[in-house]
Amino acid sequence: MTPSRQTRRYPFTRLSLGRPWCEAIELADGRRFLLRPMQGSDAPVLRRSFLQLTPNEVRMRFMHPIKELTPQYASKLAHIDTKREFALVLVEAKPPDEALIGAVVRVVLDEEGDQAEFAIIVGGDLKRQGLGRYLLARAVEWARKKGIAVLYGLVLEDNEPMLALARSLGFSRHHSRNDSGVVEVRKLLRQP
Ligand SMILES: CC(C)(COP(=O)(O)OP(=O)(O)OC[C@H]1O[C@@H](n2cnc3c(N)ncnc32)[C@H](O)[C@@H]1OP(=O)(O)O)[C@@H](O)C(=O)NCCC(=O)NCCS
Repeated sequence: MTPSRQTRRYPFTRLSLGRPWCEAIELADGRRFLLRPMQGSDAPVLRRSFLQLTPNEVRMRFMHPIKELTPQYASKLAHIDTKREFALVLVEAKPPDEALIGAVVRVVLDEEGDQAEFAIIVGGDLKRQGLGRYLLARAVEWARKKGIAVLYGLVLEDNEPMLALARSLGFSRHHSRNDSGVVEVRKLLRQP
């Protein structure tokens, strides 16, 4: 794969595929993925991929234990309302019936439209390869383009990896408005 110009910032190779938010990604160990916007047909793949997650990953991402993604919930996650939502999936470059989703980043606008909440997950041994930072940076980019004032995430207070990632991208830490045990990480993108 021919590396793109920005590749040196991340320990993997990226190649733009000429469609918005679509890139081929090759990790240092040779594994290949497609990074692209979530689509409705991803619902069954989300369900299969969810089964690979550890209970701790599920707790960190969804804030409570979930045993499986029901077809209804998977469908809700996969069908993106593009006016107020953005989601990228990192899909294995394999035949469609085998390919799993290894990482997801999602942004949802609040009702008022000037703040948006992100959520992210990078599964299993894909961690610690810069993918979380890259996906969250792309979410920030989308939010900026959308004119959003504040991008925030709700993070369990014992989730040091996520807190460190957020810190490294310039998010500041605040008490959550509603939940104890949860902190809010916030990044000001423009003056509200
Ligand atoms: C948090 C998460 C997304 C990080 O993804 P990742 O791909 O492993 O992160 P990256 O490799 O891009 O790491 C970026 C930075 O995050 C921090 N970080 C990531 N994992 C860390 C760990 N285990 N311990 C400490 N810092 C960590 C570091 O600052 C790291 O920078 P460095 O590699 O230069 O030290 C991933 O651990 C995850 O999906 N966790 C479960 C779900 C979750 O917690 N979601 C958050 C809900 S909003």
